[in-house]
Amino acid sequence: MGNFTFTMIKPRAVAKGYTGAILDQIIKDGFRIAAMKMVLLSKSEAEAFYAVHKERPFYGELVDFMSSGPVVAAILEKVNAVEDYRRLIGSTNPAQAAEGTIRRQFAESVQANAVHGSDSDENAAIESTFFFPFKERYSVDGDLFMQ
Ligand code: RTP
Ligand code: MG
Repeated sequence: MGNFTFTMIKPRAVAKGYTGAILDQIIKDGFRIAAMKMVLLSKSEAEAFYAVHKERPFYGELVDFMSSGPVVAAILEKVNAVEDYRRLIGSTNPAQAAEGTIRRQFAESVQANAVHGSDSDENAAIESTFFFPFKERYSVDGDLFMQ
């Protein structure tokens, strides 16, 4: 069971001013912010981040959307982080997301669904490395992110 996950607050949620409210909910749910930054992805960076989806029909739109404005990227630390964070954000489609989840409250569509959350420990490590060198990760127990 991994102790960290990776998240992005997506462009529409940042643009609508939801960053503070979303981070507040994340922290109140017991996650510790180990790294964080606001960044505008280039189209090629968004293509690389979402390369796993390149055969999917929505890939082009997803890349355009994710590079349309700044995102807030973060590494979140908690026991069982990947699974617990997926539960906190809710289903991909906000109409199917449970009451109280971040997507239910802050998403406007399947595409503009407020936040990204890693889907496995392996992808949490890959995605964290995409954004944050080890020296920008501030872990409570030193070697947590050396993977
Ligand atoms: P994420 O990776 O952003 O946490 O979302 P997820 O695991 O819940 O969903 P995933 O299947 O990985 O899809 C990645 C993102 O692509 C957009 N999407 N659009 N138009 C569509 O049918 C469609 N399906 C997915 C969403 O922004 C989704 O979060
Ligand atoms: Mg996903």
